[in-house]
Amino acid sequence: MSSLPSLLSERIQAVAGVDPELRPATKPQFGHYQSNVALRLAKSEGRPPREVAASIVERLQIDDLCEPPEIAGPGFINLRLKTTVLAGAVDGLLADPHTGIAQTDRPQTVVIDYSAPNVAKQMHVGHLRTTIIGDCFNRVLTALGHRVIPQNHIGDWGTQFGMLVEETLDEGIDASALTLAEAEDLYKRGSKHFREDEEFATRARKRVVALQSGDEQTRKIWRDLVAVSLVGFNATYARLNVKLTDDDLAGESTYNDDLASVAAELEANGTAVIDDGALCVFVEGFNAPMIVRKSDGGYGYSITDLAAVRHRIRDLHANRLIYVTDVRQADHFAQVFAVCRKAGWLPDDAAAEHVGYGMVLGPDGKPYKTRDGKAMLLADLLDMAEEKAAPPIALAAIKYADLSNGLNKDYVFDVDRMVQTTGNTGPYLQYAHARMSQVLRKAEAEGLGSPETVTVLDEPAEQTVALLLSRYGEVVDEVAQTLQPHRLCAYLYDLAVAVSTFYEQCPVLKSAGAVRNSRLALCRAVKQVLASGLDLLGIEALDRM
Ligand code: ARG
Repeated sequence: MSSLPSLLSERIQAVAGVDPELRPATKPQFGHYQSNVALRLAKSEGRPPREVAASIVERLQIDDLCEPPEIAGPGFINLRLKTTVLAGAVDGLLADPHTGIAQTDRPQTVVIDYSAPNVAKQMHVGHLRTTIIGDCFNRVLTALGHRVIPQNHIGDWGTQFGMLVEETLDEGIDASALTLAEAEDLYKRGSKHFREDEEFATRARKRVVALQSGDEQTRKIWRDLVAVSLVGFNATYARLNVKLTDDDLAGESTYNDDLASVAAELEANGTAVIDDGALCVFVEGFNAPMIVRKSDGGYGYSITDLAAVRHRIRDLHANRLIYVTDVRQADHFAQVFAVCRKAGWLPDDAAAEHVGYGMVLGPDGKPYKTRDGKAMLLADLLDMAEEKAAPPIALAAIKYADLSNGLNKDYVFDVDRMVQTTGNTGPYLQYAHARMSQVLRKAEAEGLGSPETVTVLDEPAEQTVALLLSRYGEVVDEVAQTLQPHRLCAYLYDLAVAVSTFYEQCPVLKSAGAVRNSRLALCRAVKQVLASGLDLLGIEALDRM
């Protein structure tokens, strides 16, 4: 099923010869959709834009969909959908198991790299953002019919494990019995020990070698530390109600066996060269080369990401790679992608996108820290929100605050504002949904049945709601393309505002006959779209509040 704007676009294109670049009208008096095609054509045709517009409108065959088109201002073409067409669109949505989200005819395999906390460290505010944003992308792309493969690239490898294991042995601790918080304390004691005791530092460095060469006692403690950390991460995922599971784990260590072949392949195909003893890749546009292998033979963070790209394209057959991390890693990923393109591991038809997010700020507008100056833990934020509201509402508040601004912007964690049920908040959307549920519940209780067709749309407030509903599928498409969830948030907020105007101006249960049935069907469609949209944001749609 084509969406209404794509149908309209096709019709205009048939007479204008070019894409009309149809946009939702900016004001109700301009109708529902607008095109500036005449202004664009006027230049090349050397005719006044209004004249061009008139000749397009004259030849346009659109009266099955629209009221007679209007030419406005310098030559805009304004279209107003017929109410019967709008009603039909809402009915279609009600009957559609996908609620108007058109299933893609070109399904892709999309790898999304998100969350990725570090072993023996609790998740902090930054992990809140990547986890929520990645989960939203997962839901949106899956809803459109793509195959999504989440990859949780946890930090489970590196030199820090030398001191972690050595400290565990020194203290005679059973690592398998630790909680994640205790493992983090161990990490802190180990780091201090490493800084202050040269003899310990030497043992810790040797321990790194033992870990790499597979020494069983060392590996066992490493595995225990990973396992206890996963228990902690999974508890947070459950609390956040995100879709990540152990099946999505692909930590840094999973690429260990690939690193030598990554280096060898890069060297063999001439992508990498030895420079001052180190294996490096020079790509244009970056200040420094990427160091694939250090001169002492050690591997760093970068090569693991090269191995991951190669694996995701070659073995997972991904068409699109998405990485959700802090904006500060933007350069790192740009360079990883450039190196992989150069190596031929990232073909031209495979997209690679880094989505950077900004910082979570405290009430003072500075990066959110605890009183003693430490990074705020994710669990602390959840606790703070749950002091103000029930868990599903607190979570809605946090997720919506995180997703409703441009992702790369910082935002202030203002818990009192976020949990309000008025204004542009998650709980406000949940409230709009609960209100629709309540109306439908009452209708059912009063024996009014559950009508599923919209037949009357005489009131402007009803029309506004119907028009917004008919746009839902387009908005979801846009989020999938642009990776900007704030567009869906803004849409759902507009819908909730339009619904509240409708609710004030158009009695539902107190009306009668065909009007009441039609309004009940409209409420049902609103509820369906809000439920679907909230689900894509990872927010629970509540039936009562
Ligand atoms: N573990 C890293 C961190 O906490 C993020 C890893 C992101 N993903 C990747 N493929 N490098 O900052």
